[in-house]
Amino acid sequence: MNSIGQENFRYLRQTSGRAIGGLGIYYMGQWYGGQSVPMAGIAAVGIVPEYRGTGAAYELLKQMLAELHTQGVPISTLYPATQKLYRKVGYEQGGSYCRWEIPAASIHLCDRHLPMTRVTPVHYATFQDIYDQQAQSTNGHLARHQGIWERVVEPAKEQAIYAYLIGTEDQPEGYAIFTQKQEPDGFMISIKDWVVLTPAALRRFWTFFADHRSQIDRVRWFSSPLDSLTLLLPEQTAKLNFQQRWMLRIVDVPKALEKRGYPPEIETELHLEVRDDLLPQNNGKFILKVSQGRGEVAKGGNGALQLDIRSLVPLYTGLFPPYQLQKSGHLEATTDALLRAKQLFSTSHPWMPDFF
Ligand SMILES: CC(C)(COP(=O)(O)OP(=O)(O)OC[C@H]1O[C@@H](n2cnc3c(N)ncnc32)[C@H](O)[C@@H]1OP(=O)(O)O)[C@@H](O)C(=O)NCCC(=O)NCCS
Repeated sequence: MNSIGQENFRYLRQTSGRAIGGLGIYYMGQWYGGQSVPMAGIAAVGIVPEYRGTGAAYELLKQMLAELHTQGVPISTLYPATQKLYRKVGYEQGGSYCRWEIPAASIHLCDRHLPMTRVTPVHYATFQDIYDQQAQSTNGHLARHQGIWERVVEPAKEQAIYAYLIGTEDQPEGYAIFTQKQEPDGFMISIKDWVVLTPAALRRFWTFFADHRSQIDRVRWFSSPLDSLTLLLPEQTAKLNFQQRWMLRIVDVPKALEKRGYPPEIETELHLEVRDDLLPQNNGKFILKVSQGRGEVAKGGNGALQLDIRSLVPLYTGLFPPYQLQKSGHLEATTDALLRAKQLFSTSHPWMPDFF
């Protein structure tokens, strides 16, 4: 509650006034196509046990989405404990959250050209600009809320937190924030947050963690399922050992399409027809006209690509290419519309390193 702010909690009450459930909203942003789209991150959804199974969570989420639409928030994102509940109100899988591990002794990189400087005290203000540079070019990354940043730099109970800038202090090329802990099968470095902006920073990053191998057995970090960090390693010793998909809801179709960015070289027009049972304002035909990396939406058009509000999510985020969504029955489209949608949305795999 401290991190989200009490004013950003919503409660469901009985007529007697007793709160029987609630949720919290992180008002932040999420990067798509080089633009930060205003986003409501939903956390701490809960219904008291004796009222579960009666439609309470559905009602709470429905009211929350109507409020977000009135507020003009284009998209909402969350981590689901169960997909069924959130699919009922229009959320669908949007992108990845993945944990990787590697034995420190198998990294074998040795490039200490860039300096690494320890940062104390660990305050997120030091890292924000560097993070933003990586986030801007990575679909699905958060434009982090202050509460999310505080969690990044906050050590777990009785653990020290270590933070290092990669490169000179005037011109940092990355950073790593991590903790160390003993697990039943050995010592582990757990990287809480990292950014590498240049090839030299990437080589220094791996070298730095390889230099812990006399005491540290494994290094853990969060990344994309297709992680380019691993392309520099001599052997395929890095293993993906956990992955989860976060879900997204398109709250306002025209705003969501207009606020994200598109490949700057593409000039095209995509005609969509959207169905939304919960937020009727999203129903209908839309023309998305894209020029110089930005989109404009008008009502109308021939509805060459038809889909419901949930199926628009993996298309919008780029989680799946449109022809795969067509094959799985998530959309119907003409060949020409599929090609245009592919040019606009299928750019890179959407992922984030944050859990909330
Ligand atoms: C998950 C939780 C919020 C659901 O609340 P609820 O009021 O029981 O949910 P609803 O009655 O509104 O259910 C809405 C739909 O979701 C489904 N659903 C709810 N909980 C589910 C579960 N755990 N697994 C699968 N489906 C579930 C319901 O079956 C219903 O679908 P249906 O009408 O087609 O049958 C509640 O169980 C809870 O508070 N759990 C503990 C905290 C938690 O897990 N929060 C979620 C964090 S993301």
